[in-house]
Amino acid sequence: MVTHTSTSVVTIERFIIEQERLHPDATGELSGILYDLALAAKMIASKVRMAGIADILGETDHENVQGEVQQKLDVISNEIMIKALDHGGRLCCMASEEEPDMIPIPEKFKTGNYALLFDPLDGSSNIDVNVPVGTIFSIVRKVSPGRRGTLEDLTQPGRRQVAAGYVIYGSSTMLVYTTGQGAHGFTLDPSIGEFLLSHPNIRMPERGKFLSVNDSYEAIWADDVKTLMRHYRGLEGDRTPMNVRYVGSLVADFHRNLLGGGIFVYPANAKTPRGKLRLLYEANPLAFICEQAGGRAIDGHQRIMDILPTELHQRTPLYMGSKLDVDLAEKVLGGHLAAV
Ligand code: AHG
Ligand code: MN
Ligand code: MN
Repeated sequence: MVTHTSTSVVTIERFIIEQERLHPDATGELSGILYDLALAAKMIASKVRMAGIADILGETDHENVQGEVQQKLDVISNEIMIKALDHGGRLCCMASEEEPDMIPIPEKFKTGNYALLFDPLDGSSNIDVNVPVGTIFSIVRKVSPGRRGTLEDLTQPGRRQVAAGYVIYGSSTMLVYTTGQGAHGFTLDPSIGEFLLSHPNIRMPERGKFLSVNDSYEAIWADDVKTLMRHYRGLEGDRTPMNVRYVGSLVADFHRNLLGGGIFVYPANAKTPRGKLRLLYEANPLAFICEQAGGRAIDGHQRIMDILPTELHQRTPLYMGSKLDVDLAEKVLGGHLAAV
């Protein structure tokens, strides 16, 4: 007897529509932004795949606003994001890690009720050695009175995000996003060009296996950070030592820890006293996903999504991952060692 297994293929479009139906008052604007982001992700994925072949690797002469050398693919990905999102009539403004100021919607296009922030190509310094890179995005509702957005829209605390996500261009391309109803992952089937639901309702293990930290900065960490690392490594306290895994692409490090459990740590150090990672383009969106999956994200003391941003390119220390691993950071950095 032949048995047929019925499979239900859920494309990202179908999933977004079904999520939208849960909100009877939804206008479809947010869904439209998510479709456009999925399209941009496919376009960037195809550029990343062609990188070596098309000879577009290498550094441009320009430095970006943060003083880091931009890679060509950074510039290309930034352009793709802007072009895919600026004309839909759903956004009032955008901001990118690669641009010094906010990105207005051109006059010729309609504007909408949302603002978008993004890191077009995270981990781009790793491209030359074929390490996974990613795109990170964050969507907030417009709060400023006018038609066109202002900095007020873009500098809202992370808890006001209505959606956030990332794309990882790895051995496969995956898009993971949340609208506050769980974190869901989609894998790109390149043969049909569709993102298919592969990881519904991702849950992060409460305690993780992996510690992701660049410990070449150990000499310039504060003493409490050094103590915390000793706990994670099982050299102090009673924890099983964690496995160190550090790619150097935040998206790749976060993605592994999201699925396998673990913590990503980028503390302040004597050279970067406010941390390295950007609150609005990196920390907030991934913190939203992380919390939706049952994890936590703090700057050492405060919940990342409660930080009130004062500038677009603000940086923050980051401790993000499995709940119990972040709890430990909070206790050690809060000086409550006895309670550990
Ligand atoms: P970006 O490529 O967008 O500038 O981000 C790089 C970030 C992040 O992806 C990664 O976690 C971190 O830089 C690595 O920094 P270190 O090399 O100092 O560890
Ligand atoms: Mn980045
Ligand atoms: Mn970047």
